[in-house]
Amino acid sequence: MSRKVALLLALSLLLLGREFAPNSSCKECHPLIWKEYQTSMHGNSTIFKDPIHRAVWEKNPASKKGAYTCAKCHTPAADNLKELIAPNGIGPDPDNPTQNDGVACAYCHRIEGIKIGEKSNYNIISAHQRRYFGAREDHIESPFHEINSSNPNFLNGNVCMGCHSHKKNKFGLNVCSTNEHGEIENANCVSCHMPQVEGSVSNLKERPTHAFHGFAGAHAHWDLLKRYIDIEFMPHLKGFEIALNSKIPHAFLLHPARVAFMKVQVLRDGKTIFEKGETLVRVLGADGKPTPPWLAREVVKDTMLKANEKRIFKYDQRLERGDQVVVTLGYRLVKPPLAKKLGIEEEFATKPTIFKREVFTLP
Ligand code: HEC
Ligand code: HEC
Ligand code: HEC
Ligand code: HEC
Ligand code: HEC
Repeated sequence: MSRKVALLLALSLLLLGREFAPNSSCKECHPLIWKEYQTSMHGNSTIFKDPIHRAVWEKNPASKKGAYTCAKCHTPAADNLKELIAPNGIGPDPDNPTQNDGVACAYCHRIEGIKIGEKSNYNIISAHQRRYFGAREDHIESPFHEINSSNPNFLNGNVCMGCHSHKKNKFGLNVCSTNEHGEIENANCVSCHMPQVEGSVSNLKERPTHAFHGFAGAHAHWDLLKRYIDIEFMPHLKGFEIALNSKIPHAFLLHPARVAFMKVQVLRDGKTIFEKGETLVRVLGADGKPTPPWLAREVVKDTMLKANEKRIFKYDQRLERGDQVVVTLGYRLVKPPLAKKLGIEEEFATKPTIFKREVFTLP
């Protein structure tokens, strides 16, 4: 690209006068990363693009006061972040382009450090509008921005902890956490959620791979993550055992809206002769009953597969030679009764996602 084009680009941005360069300005040189990002929940975290987030927000008492406190993590590049969060009746504005960028490229790449907070952590954003942190030591120069590849949070993959560490409600209950007991100190989120995939980092230099920006997770690209849970089969004389062996440093699912399931079937001569289901779920509530997260004072029930847990399920169905045992591990983003209560009609919210399926045949 010529200097002139680069200069023009830079100028057009200055004219827009935004604190964070818009996502669209990265597209020209990082087309692959930009495209992946559009499929990620970071690209779709806004109230306008995520119907599950919107439905929960509308039920939250803060919404009546227009205090969109969610912006801190769901729309952190909003140019009126302070007003947006305050209880002043100003709610989210679909016509504000800075509120449409989600967890924006430039925001994430300006996270200089992380401040530990009681209810949730905070990101410390660097003052250099056009200097981005990265992890590649052998980078070439960019005509659009400076590059700093000596930020330890990027090098050790912990840049995520400003938003993902924990989130407590007003009663101090941890609503959603990758880090409930400080267990995750050295777990590199990037290695699993942003693996190197084919295609170049930019179109200014050919490279074989780049860090995946579709952010594999419960909504999308889970196929990249299924190898982190093994399904194991152990037949014995009186029956058999199935083990779910997790290598994840956090619980299988994190958000309290989710519900996971495991289905075990035994097929003999093509017919199902045995079937059993298990539910893996974490329910928040008070006085032993489920409540919305902002009213919850305790964990009412927790059968979710925990960090690094190996859970064994025993079945007393006797098996014969040739029997097939089919194990399906899956989940729904929103528990169906909750979706109904929240008025979420989008099918993707409640339809089962098959995370992993294994078929074992008795020799
Ligand atoms: C401290 C950062 C933070 C704040 C503040 C925050 N969230 Fe979130 N939110 C997250 C993260 C991180 C996730 C992804 C969690 C996951 O998928 O396990 C998330 C996911 C969600 C989801 C699931 C969305 C989906 O598509 O499945 C809902 C619903 C949600 N948040 C609602 C809210 C609401 C409503 C507010 C404001 C009242 C809020 N959040 C404030 C960090 C935050
Ligand atoms: C005019 C072209 C151009 C534009 C526009 C551009 N970049 Fe880059 N960027 C580059 C080049 C070239 C590299 C170095 C690639 C390499 O070494 O292979 C790079 C590298 C990076 C890196 C990697 C740093 C590292 O050391 O790992 C990050 C992060 C980055 N850009 C973020 C962004 C973001 C965010 C935007 C949009 C706000 C953006 N870039 C827009 C050209 C551009
Ligand atoms: C500025 C806050 C912020 C930062 C920093 C951040 N995230 Fe997120 N992340 C979110 C929010 C908010 C959501 C939920 C969006 C939604 O569902 O509406 C989310 C969603 C996700 C999801 C999708 C979960 C699902 O249900 O599909 C994954 C995976 C994820 N983040 C991984 C990461 C990783 C890895 C990092 C660090 C490289 C990171 N995040 C950094 C705010 C952040
Ligand atoms: C060893 C691999 C591994 C590491 C390391 C890892 N994760 Fe995960 N993560 C997974 C797997 C597997 C899932 C389940 C995928 C699914 O829901 O489809 C998952 C799910 C998630 C989800 C979605 C949960 C939900 O309820 O929607 C978020 C958000 C997430 N991880 C964030 C992180 C963050 C932040 C870190 C670093 C602190 C991290 N992960 C470290 C493998 C990993
Ligand atoms: C949630 C935080 C987050 C968001 C949002 C994000 N990135 Fe990144 N990005 C990272 C991290 C972390 C790395 C370093 C990955 C690694 O260590 O392999 C990275 C790496 C990169 C690289 C270097 C890739 C490589 O393989 O060397 C480029 C270029 C880049 N990002 C551009 C972008 C652009 C453009 C967007 C928006 C379309 C974006 N990023 C959105 C966290 C983010």
